[in-house]
Amino acid sequence: MRDERILILDFGGQYDQLIARRVREQHVYCELRPCTVSMEEIKAFGPAGIIFTGGPHSVYEEGAPTVDPKVFQLGVPILGICYGCQLLARLLGGEVVPAQSDGAREYGKTETEFQVGSPLFRGLPTRSVVWMSHGDYISRLPGGFRALARSEACPCAAMGDEERRFYGVQFHPEVRHTEEGTAVLRNFLFEVCALRGDWRMESFRASAVSALRKQIGEGRVLLALSGGVDSSVCAALLDEAVGEKLTCVFVDHGLLRKNEGDEVEAAFAGRKLDFIRVDAGERFLRRLKGVRQPEEKRKRIGEEFIRVFEEESRKLGTIEFLAQGTIYPDVIESGAGSAAVIKSHHNVGGLPAEVGFKGILEPLRSLFKDEVRLLGRELGLPESLVSRQPFPGPGLAIRILGAVTAEKLTILREADAVFREEMAAAGLTGAAGQYFAALTNLRSVGVKGDGRSYERAVALRAVSTEDFMTADWARLPWELLDRVSSRIVNEVPGVNRVFYDVTSKPPATVEYE
Ligand code: XMP
Repeated sequence: MRDERILILDFGGQYDQLIARRVREQHVYCELRPCTVSMEEIKAFGPAGIIFTGGPHSVYEEGAPTVDPKVFQLGVPILGICYGCQLLARLLGGEVVPAQSDGAREYGKTETEFQVGSPLFRGLPTRSVVWMSHGDYISRLPGGFRALARSEACPCAAMGDEERRFYGVQFHPEVRHTEEGTAVLRNFLFEVCALRGDWRMESFRASAVSALRKQIGEGRVLLALSGGVDSSVCAALLDEAVGEKLTCVFVDHGLLRKNEGDEVEAAFAGRKLDFIRVDAGERFLRRLKGVRQPEEKRKRIGEEFIRVFEEESRKLGTIEFLAQGTIYPDVIESGAGSAAVIKSHHNVGGLPAEVGFKGILEPLRSLFKDEVRLLGRELGLPESLVSRQPFPGPGLAIRILGAVTAEKLTILREADAVFREEMAAAGLTGAAGQYFAALTNLRSVGVKGDGRSYERAVALRAVSTEDFMTADWARLPWELLDRVSSRIVNEVPGVNRVFYDVTSKPPATVEYE
């Protein structure tokens, strides 16, 4: 039985990724494609339903994005959201006009009345709050449609042609501010498209494994393992597919957290793949000697990584495929659905595609981060690795302000380990999206025992964030900070002061450099 798939046509809206997330949350596989995609591609995709996203344009604007009207002849249910709804109205013969006065514009939370007899609103309360964000409105419905929802300013907040199974909502069901948003999307998927909702990680795993086997054939595969979640899950998946043909090169740049290198190695120890750990710590330290500028550090680490990786791959002889742990947000950022874009693994500083491989494998290309974690669990990777918080490719080097030395790395590793241990002991690992220690370049006077000390200061950073684009400092309990601080000054030689960072992003960033 073929997977049920929803095609999301992208008209440039700001919540497009969110629509895809919400559909996947309902165990329905979906992909986001640009609205300019050809009919052949749409047919090849074989959608069981199509969603038109919102977008910043007006449908009557010259050059406004549109879609091939043959899409209406596919016999497939369609849901238009915001701009998508207006486009549906216009292309099917209705009328969309700009709101003449601010009164007809709607922005923000809006109380709306639903026709609960319609499959799209079945089981919902008759009134509820939705998130609106539109200047234009539908002044005349296309033939065959009726209005299915209304708000004070908008007589057509939703419309539907039940026979053809075409629906449009003026509001955004994908954002959390729309109280019944998930229910509306569920109704589209299960009542209108009559889907089963049986897309699970097991089925992804099975189909990914068989696709990889077919693609790789008798070839050999090389994977650069950074120790991050994406490349580790990618390695485990490839191991299951073509274990004996896989070589993983784990470049340990010596800038990882305490025990991290060993944990990565242990996770792959019992498998049938070739695992090469390159302990390149000294080499990286030499390259970083005396370098104080953040950008210069990043550049040198990225370059050195590539150099080490190239040296190792040359030793291995001809290898046909290079595998990378690219995930869906990376793909979307670099142009949705565009197969030609091959993004180098962001964690490892960009591997050179010209190393001479016949092909690039990116088996996680269609997954979101939390789906990658689910797959990792499914494949038996340890929780410590799967639920690892984001860790920057340049590692501790950008958490040590100023020049990196072996001594500073030891101090930071120990301080960071104390912080992580205490967060775990307090059951607070979920209280911050990311938390870590950084080593400032400050020395200050203190008193330890009976004597004067003149030692370093550690900064603790914990942030809560949805997407890492903005972040707020996490309100950790004083008692926890107190415990972490006293343990660090007592247990980590060379530190006599601990700060807690109470800056948000912006204006600060999550990392220090
Ligand atoms: P900033 O410091 O920009 O960090 O607020 C946002 C998120 O990105 C991570 N980060 C990186 N990840 N390579 C990475 O793979 C990098 O060079 C890098 N720099 C920052 C950071 O840990 C946070 O999660």
